[in-house]
Amino acid sequence: MNHRTIGVGSMIGALFCALLVILSGCDNGQKSPAVSAPAVIPDRSGELLSVAEDADPVLTPPLVLGFSQLGTESDWRLANTESIKEAAKEAGVELRFENAEQSQQKQIAAIRSFIEQKVDVIAIAPVIQSGWEPILKEAKAAGIPVIISDRSIDVADSSLFVTFIGADFYEEGRKAGKYLLDKTRDMTGTIGIAELKGTEGSAPSIERGKGFRDTIEGNSNFVYLESDYADFTFEQGKETMRRFLREKGKEIRVLFAHNDDMALGAIEAIEEYGLRPGKDIVIISVDGTRRALEKLAEGKINLVVECNPLLGPNLIQAATEIMQGRMLPKRIVPPESVFTEQMAKREAAKRKY
Ligand code: AHR
Repeated sequence: MNHRTIGVGSMIGALFCALLVILSGCDNGQKSPAVSAPAVIPDRSGELLSVAEDADPVLTPPLVLGFSQLGTESDWRLANTESIKEAAKEAGVELRFENAEQSQQKQIAAIRSFIEQKVDVIAIAPVIQSGWEPILKEAKAAGIPVIISDRSIDVADSSLFVTFIGADFYEEGRKAGKYLLDKTRDMTGTIGIAELKGTEGSAPSIERGKGFRDTIEGNSNFVYLESDYADFTFEQGKETMRRFLREKGKEIRVLFAHNDDMALGAIEAIEEYGLRPGKDIVIISVDGTRRALEKLAEGKINLVVECNPLLGPNLIQAATEIMQGRMLPKRIVPPESVFTEQMAKREAAKRKY
């Protein structure tokens, strides 16, 4: 039974709701569907049972979604937040939003507060991969389903979350590596690589780095000269690239930046140093933000691997379907591509973020 206050007609509503719950018989491993049940509810055999369409609107309070966003470190993140807020608004979902400012402790506190508030569904964009089991067990004990958004987590018990909606970061790293193999096929001698990694312990940093290395390994021309974390931010990307250049200077012929913001910061550092980004140093980035596509069009970035931040519609749909008692796939991956210099102008012009 839903824990939220039901307005006028609550007695009739409660009886009607109880009937819906009995009819649906599907709890998705979590608590029973809320009063905001859909006009049709699947039973266990997958057949749809019709429910009165003219149900009293008072009986369907909005779904309450608690969302713990990890921070505001990049243009990608801002677009992701915007997409979730917009999709919630459009669907009439009540979004309780908390920004954790890159702190797992703040995320855990936010999730605990969502549990106390008895929200219907919790969604988390986890800053790092490890350390989630205890708080997810608390959510499970409270019967609140959890959706993992954007970044994967490392838990032994996969029943602690319903679904993970987010990109295939390993594949993104592989796309970057494949491009590099192609781009450098006529280069001779040692090819020095610098790598700007994101946040230490985060899924995109671990998986993009691995996908890239796995793809280029075996080619003895490549040498990793520098590799360090720059937290997915413009400022740290610039500062870390300055240091790379101080230490290795012109030996660096390739930069793989794990996101656009760090690549944009690095471009400034490279120009300061007196080299030409995109020419003296091949630059590969990940995300596909407008600012990066503009640099791609100028020839200052050579390839941008897309990582789609517009997860809002999928997330809200998943939360809604969970409350409807529907079974969801354990993994939902948004479609993604790559942006080359040739496509950049056209894509940058229509980019919203
Ligand atoms: O988790 C997605 C990554 O996080 C994006 O690539 C990056 O820009 C963001 O900060």
